[in-house]
Amino acid sequence: MALAMKLFSLLLLLTLIPLINAAGLKVGFYNKTCASAESLVQQAVAAAFANDSGVAAGLIRLHFHDCFVRGCDASVLLDSPTNQSEKDAIPNNPSLRGFEVVDAAKAAVEAQCPNVVSCADILAFAARDSVALTGNVTYQVPSGRRDGSVSNISEVIPNLPGPSFNATQLVDNFASKNLTAAEMVVLSGAHTLGRSHCSSFLARIYNFTNTTQVDPTLSEAYASLLQTRCPQNTSRFSPITTAMDLITPTLLDNKYYVGLELSLGLFTSDQALLTNSTLSSLVTKFAKHQEDWEKRFIKAMVKMGKIEVLTGTQGEIRANCRVVNSGSTTTTISTTGSSDGVASY
Ligand code: HEM
Ligand SMILES: *[C@@H]1O[C@H](CO)[C@@H](O)[C@H](O)[C@H]1NC(C)=O
Ligand SMILES: *[C@@H]1O[C@H](CO)[C@@H](O)[C@H](O)[C@H]1NC(C)=O
Ligand SMILES: *[C@@H]1O[C@H](CO)[C@@H](O)[C@H](O)[C@H]1NC(C)=O
Ligand SMILES: *[C@@H]1O[C@H](CO)[C@@H](O)[C@H](O)[C@H]1NC(C)=O
Ligand SMILES: *[C@@H]1O[C@H](CO)[C@@H](O)[C@H](O)[C@H]1NC(C)=O
Ligand SMILES: *[C@@H]1O[C@H](CO)[C@@H](O)[C@H](O)[C@H]1NC(C)=O
Ligand SMILES: *[C@@H]1O[C@H](CO)[C@@H](O)[C@H](O)[C@H]1NC(C)=O
Ligand SMILES: *[C@@H]1O[C@H](CO)[C@@H](O)[C@H](O)[C@H]1NC(C)=O
Ligand SMILES: *[C@@H]1O[C@H](CO)[C@@H](O)[C@H](O)[C@H]1NC(C)=O
Ligand SMILES: *[C@@H]1O[C@H](CO)[C@@H](O)[C@H](O)[C@H]1NC(C)=O
Ligand SMILES: *[C@@H]1O[C@H](CO)[C@@H](O)[C@H](O)[C@H]1NC(C)=O
Repeated sequence: MALAMKLFSLLLLLTLIPLINAAGLKVGFYNKTCASAESLVQQAVAAAFANDSGVAAGLIRLHFHDCFVRGCDASVLLDSPTNQSEKDAIPNNPSLRGFEVVDAAKAAVEAQCPNVVSCADILAFAARDSVALTGNVTYQVPSGRRDGSVSNISEVIPNLPGPSFNATQLVDNFASKNLTAAEMVVLSGAHTLGRSHCSSFLARIYNFTNTTQVDPTLSEAYASLLQTRCPQNTSRFSPITTAMDLITPTLLDNKYYVGLELSLGLFTSDQALLTNSTLSSLVTKFAKHQEDWEKRFIKAMVKMGKIEVLTGTQGEIRANCRVVNSGSTTTTISTTGSSDGVASY
């Protein structure tokens, strides 16, 4: 009898586990377990923004880089003692910023409700709060993500789009994340904010081809300005940066698209949106209609925030966003330098 009962409960549990895992994200996931979670994150982001408004761009990009590599599981936040985690990869190091803001938000949340709110959700909330602080745009973020335990430097370049990508490569990269070509154009509008290091566009302003020094799809006047700012061979570690949206560099608006029409796109990948008529008709539309872009931007941000998420009993709720919880399962990064079932390299 007792054995039958035990078997029955086990069976019940086994049938329920996939259901729990399959549970999607929900707006207000922490309503009961940590009601102040979202406002604590908002306060941390607002405080950091008051000191340095650049953190808004940093946090939006951090969420994007998290979601495109292993899904939105906060893998981008993990530190590696051997510099082998995602944040050490070329597209992230040293340009990603906002890690300290996530730490501050996490500390505030842990003080209220320990071990409840995931780092992946904090990052999604922080990106939303950054959008609200820089634009006239607010939206609700479905939550319930859980944190992964793997962060692998080699997975970054194959999963993220690069600034030298052409239209086909951009469309294909986003398609690999189940995002449409239109959503790619919409999300590229995030380049309405923030900065870039010289290395991301140097190839457009020096020795572009044997016959032309400068990319002909870049405004000549803008190219001269960029040459003044960025000497030849400037390394990616140089502190020199330049605004991504020349027109309104600190506002989340549609001026990025207006800039593209004036050949002011900073990257090959930005200006590439005009090389295909399907994509360029969207650019024209968004340049004219800001509200149309904003609506589509927040929808696309929510969709991006759902890429390959861990839910239910998958993953864990990290105590510290930079390290996996002790006793955790396999990871490609080591948190202690010792080998507690952890493959370090
Ligand atoms: C479409 C393909 C994309 C490419 C090729 C790309 C590439 C880049 C590169 C190279 C930088 C400059 C990094 C540096 O040198 O400092 C950058 C900055 C930025 N990207 Fe993208 N990105 C893309 C899409 C996105 C998306 C989808 C988002 C977010 C939704 C985003 C948000 C940002 C932001 C906010 C910055 C400024 C970061 C800062 O100021 O710290 N990007 N991007
Ligand atoms: C949490 O509360 C908000 C606001 O009342 C509501 O919109 C949302 O559906 C709630 N979510 C859950 C999962 O209870
Ligand atoms: C303020 O911003 C600067 C960078 O702009 C950063 O070095 C510093 O740590 C920030 N201070 C606080 C208190 O967040
Ligand atoms: C990791 O990178 C930092 C600089 O970002 C450097 O100071 C440190 O020596 C590196 N550690 C290893 C083990 O390579
Ligand atoms: C903010 O957005 C709302 C609705 O999208 C719009 O009606 C309003 O004019 C906008 N305000 C500003 C200052 O752009
Ligand atoms: C885009 O780049 C890929 C990879 O370099 C190349 O194979 C393809 O021909 C390019 N497409 C266009 C339209 O330039
Ligand atoms: C895209 O959708 C397919 C089919 O639903 C799914 O198997 C795949 O895991 C999804 N990929 C991502 C990156 O979400
Ligand atoms: C560009 O080409 C010239 C002549 O071929 C060369 O001297 C120079 O070093 C090159 N610059 C870069 C950044 O490769
Ligand atoms: C460009 O110059 C390099 C070396 O100067 C040469 O090897 C290459 O064939 C040239 N390419 C074209 C398209 O002329
Ligand atoms: C840039 O690098 C090239 C070779 O990569 C070198 O020939 C040239 O002298 C460098 N230019 C500067 C200004 O350092
Ligand atoms: C433009 O992009 C769309 C969307 O990816 C694609 O279907 C179409 O074939 C492209 N057109 C050209 C001329 O490359
Ligand atoms: C890291 O990712 C690469 C590329 O997917 C893979 O070949 C490698 O095995 C991974 N490393 C570890 C330790 O899992």
